[in-house]
Amino acid sequence: MSSFPGSVPDLSVLFLLLLLLPLPPISGGRGGGGGGHDYDRALHLSILFFEGQRSGRLPPDQRLRWRHDSALHDGSTAGVDLTGGYYDAGDNVKFGFPMAFTTTMLSWSIIDFGRNMGRELTHAVKAVKWATDYLLKATAIPGVVFVQVGDAFSDHNCWERPEDMDTVRTAYKIDSSHPGSDVAGDWPLPPLSSGHVTPSTPGFFSVVPFGYVFEFADRHRGAYSSSLHRAVCPFYCDVNGYQDELLWGAAWLHKASRSRVYREYIMRNEVVLHAGDTINEFGWDNKHAGINVLISKEVLMGKAGYFESFKQNADGFICSLLPGISHPQVQYSPGGLIFKAGGSNMQHVTSLSFLLLAYSNYLSHANKVVPCGGGRSASPALLKLLAKRQVNYILGDNPLRMSYMVGYGARYPQRIHHRASSLPSVQAHPAHIGCKAGSRFFLSPNPNPNLLAGAVVGGPNVTDAFPDSRPFFQESEPTTYINAPLVGLLAFFSAHP
Ligand SMILES: *[C@@H]1O[C@H](CO)[C@@H](O)[C@H](O)[C@H]1NC(C)=O
Repeated sequence: MSSFPGSVPDLSVLFLLLLLLPLPPISGGRGGGGGGHDYDRALHLSILFFEGQRSGRLPPDQRLRWRHDSALHDGSTAGVDLTGGYYDAGDNVKFGFPMAFTTTMLSWSIIDFGRNMGRELTHAVKAVKWATDYLLKATAIPGVVFVQVGDAFSDHNCWERPEDMDTVRTAYKIDSSHPGSDVAGDWPLPPLSSGHVTPSTPGFFSVVPFGYVFEFADRHRGAYSSSLHRAVCPFYCDVNGYQDELLWGAAWLHKASRSRVYREYIMRNEVVLHAGDTINEFGWDNKHAGINVLISKEVLMGKAGYFESFKQNADGFICSLLPGISHPQVQYSPGGLIFKAGGSNMQHVTSLSFLLLAYSNYLSHANKVVPCGGGRSASPALLKLLAKRQVNYILGDNPLRMSYMVGYGARYPQRIHHRASSLPSVQAHPAHIGCKAGSRFFLSPNPNPNLLAGAVVGGPNVTDAFPDSRPFFQESEPTTYINAPLVGLLAFFSAHP
């Protein structure tokens, strides 16, 4: 049950008070947001969600039983096996760029908070492995990376179950001889460089770096959305450029391998690749904030003074998220939700909250605070509190008193923009449902028949209003990259409620 108070406290007042006063204990009091949420259950559901997004042949231990095998011929048009992986959201395309970010954030969740996951750890590792098994297939041919399977226009023109899918399944690739083959800077890097997670023993987490993909990408610099523009835009166009992915890849390879090569690469390319530019969000397109926070950990551990500028960037970014700051990078809704324009807002909420929490932990270990200028500073406890308030908002501490996670709490979204969830399951309706035959389910006012447990949707608009309607996809569509950082957040708060 939620402890959402009758009135919404003004966060900017809270922030100013926290600067002046000792912090209230996080787990107590109205401002503390200790809402008595069942973080264990939310964590469980947040990971279960990924089973609903699975493509390919489902394994015997599949827990989400209303989904079945799908897209079993992916890759055949190119003579390769590209079955598996995840559908990014409520459609049936396997977009590699967001899949890469999702995988990295799931991995980061495990690296930083796996020790808080208890029995869920093995499921979280399986969720990463489902993606990395696919990404290995997509990079099996040297000098070639398959970055997407499925024609997005053909797919989006239909409302079909993945199990029935009969749309065009083109396998899109980048390579060095492809026109505009200065590509490769993008999606394969983060997951492969962050390592291949193998659950060899329970709770064990091993990292095998994939430096060769990084070298390929670095040698052929360019954005995949230049060469594959018509396939990937406007869906997952790399608007922000490929530079951040190169640094992001190098930062993870550095972390995984501790090799001098990557440390020197980062130092040599910090300016060229704009490490300190456009730090205004964190997501599948723009990784600058994440790069700076990730690298700052080492600086805070006192091990990497040569990366000091990354910590200054991270400090500046973290300060720009605080309510009441003078040059904010985010808005807050009246109900207290982080808001950025552009749709699917919850992706910003979870990824920015993840950075707040991760940075808070790094600061705590170093016994440091964030200097925010003008004699003001933000303590690790404040960052943790802000992250927790965002998580609690998602779980039900909000003006509509509803949870934005399907299957959690008494009220949650019923008409999510998700083909598999909104059409009858194969079990309930074995006959094929064609492209346009699905439209009546899309337009139906009824709740979705299949519970996509754990799915967190795009969420309310800037006035905390939520239509709970399939056509409003910016609000009602779940995505893998909303959930991935949330897994880490929920793990932490389940251990520190
Ligand atoms: C938010 O959504 C509500 C309900 O759908 C709508 O009335 C309102 O105009 C929206 N506000 C903005 C700023 O989009």
